[in-house]
Amino acid sequence: MVRGCGFLPETIDLNVASVPRMYDYLLGGKDHYPADREACQRLMDQAPQTRSLACAQRQFRLRAVRSLALTYGIDQYVEFGCGLPSWENTHTTARRARPASRVVYIDRDPMVVAHGRALMEQAGTTVIQGDLAQAPGILDHPDISNLLDLTKPVAVLAVSLLHTLPDRTGCEQAVACLIDALPPGSFLVASQLISHETDLANKIDSVMHDATGGQWGHVGSAREARTLFRGLNLLTPGVTDVALWRPDDMQGRPVRGPLQEVGGIGQKPSSAC
Ligand SMILES: C[S@@+](CC[C@H](N)C(=O)[O-])C[C@H]1O[C@@H](n2cnc3c(N)ncnc32)[C@H](O)[C@@H]1O
Repeated sequence: MVRGCGFLPETIDLNVASVPRMYDYLLGGKDHYPADREACQRLMDQAPQTRSLACAQRQFRLRAVRSLALTYGIDQYVEFGCGLPSWENTHTTARRARPASRVVYIDRDPMVVAHGRALMEQAGTTVIQGDLAQAPGILDHPDISNLLDLTKPVAVLAVSLLHTLPDRTGCEQAVACLIDALPPGSFLVASQLISHETDLANKIDSVMHDATGGQWGHVGSAREARTLFRGLNLLTPGVTDVALWRPDDMQGRPVRGPLQEVGGIGQKPSSAC
């Protein structure tokens, strides 16, 4: 547990839906309960493409890490809001290209941390309970300083996380400070749900606030999604529908519908402080 940095939940209430267990259900995992499945159904009643969007963001994370490892030589990752372990985790993707890759997984949810420690912790990885709002102080955590060389570029991941944050502004500032504290050449990989339809966005927010007991932020806008990369050099193709971010089949097929997951990768320029 990270100390002195605000509230981190210690208990798990299986009667209240949790975002990581809902994602696990949508992605075909086995770590979910009736409250999670009911919340997913309510969500899919509003936006039938929800499951496809969850899959699209996972595929985006895979392609993003693969690109960073293969094209940019990155072998150090800090993943915020990693979610429950699944068939493909960041260290598995990264190590296919760079076997010595090291990964720090950070999530505020105690069940994610327990499962992560059981299934993902091994030489070169660590799983920490922590909050994105605590960045960059979290870099002082001994498990991080022992594992990563913070004089060399690091990739920070916040995939499908931003719409779940009740304090989005505070977390954006925390991410900016974290990137400031990292060496030039470091990367930020981020994605989030957006919608141009205010009515739909409001309905989804209302379902999620109700089902998770307030563990939700809001479905954002394209402008908000771009804001996070301010001051960074965006890799092509910029901030886009995640299915169109360097798709494997060159074309990419966006998930159709008024709810979208958009994301991208920004690199800290060498002139930045
Ligand atoms: C949508 S899920 C995970 C998605 C995952 N990144 C992926 O690529 O599939 C969002 C995760 O963020 C975690 N989370 C929510 N707020 C957080 C915060 N402030 N700091 C760290 N993790 C957070 C949740 O517990 C959950 O596991």
